[in-house]
Amino acid sequence: MAKILVIHGPNLNLLGEREPAIYGEQTLDDINKMLKDTAAKHQVEVDCFQSNHEGAIVDQIQAARDQYEAVIINAGAYTHYSIAILDALRSFKGPVIEVHLSNIYQRESYRHRSLVSEAATGGIFGLGALSYKLALLGIIEMLNL
Ligand code: DQA
Repeated sequence: MAKILVIHGPNLNLLGEREPAIYGEQTLDDINKMLKDTAAKHQVEVDCFQSNHEGAIVDQIQAARDQYEAVIINAGAYTHYSIAILDALRSFKGPVIEVHLSNIYQRESYRHRSLVSEAATGGIFGLGALSYKLALLGIIEMLNL
């Protein structure tokens, strides 16, 4: 069964209580459950990983190289300045889909630049939790899973 890794970056563990007007009411557990339910319907497997630490995210991306067909990543604030995460993503051979709950281009100017985008196959942003679901469905379609 094809395996897809979902990576959530810093502060996304606080979803539901953190700025709900921007990020929505759903918790990270709600989003992960929705992704696992969607994956099960399509006979693929999803593993979800969250960390507030840049190095832990780099380690996870490196480990994903031999284990996962594709990566969905919301790198949180690291999106905008982590060259380490960009370099790690560049070493991953399969599709990488960048996700954001909010529309980063409608917000502060420091959020308009994404380093993750430089390594991403594509991206979905601004649709709340639906951004993640569409990323997963996109991978399923792209890989004919
Ligand atoms: C975010 C947008 C980032 O700018 C922010 O730092 C986050 C969440 C989003 O999902 O909208 O932590 O990645």
